[in-house]
Amino acid sequence: MSIQFEVMHKDIAGRVGRLTVGNKRIRTPALLPVVNPHIQIIPPAEMAAMGIEGLITNAYIFSKSADFREEALSRGLHSVLGFDGLIMTDSGSFQLSVYGSVDITNEATISFQRDIGSDIWVPLDIPTHPDTPRETVEADLTVTMNRLREAKELFGDDAPLAGPVQGGLHPDLRKKAGRGVSELGFAFCPIGAVVPLLESYRYKELVSSVMPAKEGLSSAACVHLFGAGHPSMFALAVAMGCDIFDSAAYALYAREGRYITPSGTLKIAEMSELPCACSVCRSHTAEELRSAPDKERLLAYHNLAVTQAEISRIRLSIQEGTLWDLVDERCRAHPRLLDGYRELLKNASVLEQSDRATKRRFFYRGDESCRRTEVIKFQQMIPRIQLSARSLILCGGPRPQEFEEVLELRPPFGAVPTELSETAPMGQSEVPEWDDAMLTTAFAGVEALLSSNPDCEVTFSATPELADLIRRRFPDATVIS
Ligand code: GUN
Ligand code: ZN
Repeated sequence: MSIQFEVMHKDIAGRVGRLTVGNKRIRTPALLPVVNPHIQIIPPAEMAAMGIEGLITNAYIFSKSADFREEALSRGLHSVLGFDGLIMTDSGSFQLSVYGSVDITNEATISFQRDIGSDIWVPLDIPTHPDTPRETVEADLTVTMNRLREAKELFGDDAPLAGPVQGGLHPDLRKKAGRGVSELGFAFCPIGAVVPLLESYRYKELVSSVMPAKEGLSSAACVHLFGAGHPSMFALAVAMGCDIFDSAAYALYAREGRYITPSGTLKIAEMSELPCACSVCRSHTAEELRSAPDKERLLAYHNLAVTQAEISRIRLSIQEGTLWDLVDERCRAHPRLLDGYRELLKNASVLEQSDRATKRRFFYRGDESCRRTEVIKFQQMIPRIQLSARSLILCGGPRPQEFEEVLELRPPFGAVPTELSETAPMGQSEVPEWDDAMLTTAFAGVEALLSSNPDCEVTFSATPELADLIRRRFPDATVIS
């Protein structure tokens, strides 16, 4: 019954993979819709028909419910919910973070999750609010780690247990927690206590909490971002290496008349069109949807359908090697997402280590593209380029015959030897007219090349407009135009 995770395709730190627990298998990245047994706005059987392979429900709600407790114990969770895919249960920790306490022990919640036939069991971790003093975060983390250890001891190494990673906003604690969870042997690792960050659009802090957690975790772990359900941030989270999301947003937003799109949320009351291809949006006008008697259910269906479609789009872009393009696109939908994207780019040298070597394309999409992993990968290779005694760097100028070696300025990468110009990533790169940001990055690459070849004589052949810029940047160089 142990949890297995296989990675099939990679892009940045994102993966397309397969999570297997017993005879249940789901493709990742995956969305697990949150199902509340009391309010099943979309019945799980209908979710299965929408391509949903797994869901998450709350064992604590089941254990406290007069209606559902005995039924789940006798018939099992899959039968009660009418869903035979993968079902993960949460422990009551979320209630703990909202209400401050719960009347269940770690052992009792895990036993209950086992007894109702859940596929993935979550111990009673403590989701410490991000704005808590460090001493409390540390003390809570100690309790969480003890409970994870206890779970392994009581239920065995093969039990399908999740190992949540806590540690608040402290990168060192997140990294330590990640390492500790992997050392305890957890293969399925949710990153916890991020809901307050997501609710207030604190994406920069999200990135600076998730990145160290990922660095501490084994790269073989399947990583769940607990409580993340809005599709606008999935691409960002997947780029960091998150594999699983769970969404209550589809239902909560529907209740408030809110219409999810991959770039944000709109109020159905204010919409004049339904810009989506799902069956609800194609068979209703905005006005009809607003006034439909089952408006909440229809809206929930739409919200879930677009959320699920974004997951498919992400899996596709990982296979194509175009995840950076999707991250760039999504993160321009809100300035705070852009902050998260820029924070992600600060980690590009870490991400570069897991990124794939070849991709379908490198499209330049503005100065953020200069800090992408492909540029870093090329520039890290520059010190290994050995120039001939007399080399020419073509920067749009004439090409005299007498040089032993010719390189081409390829912003934003740098000067690329002709024999490498069709290799990845330069061979797949498409850039618009050169701008300042890409030239600055390319010149940094040229500078690295010159300093690793101090005895070579390098001539630049530039357009008249570029010649001055190059003379200022490389005062000792010969520039012809
Ligand atoms: N749901 C949202 N955040 C958390 C968390 O940190 N831990 C658990 N167990 N459930 C959550
Ligand atoms: Zn729709």
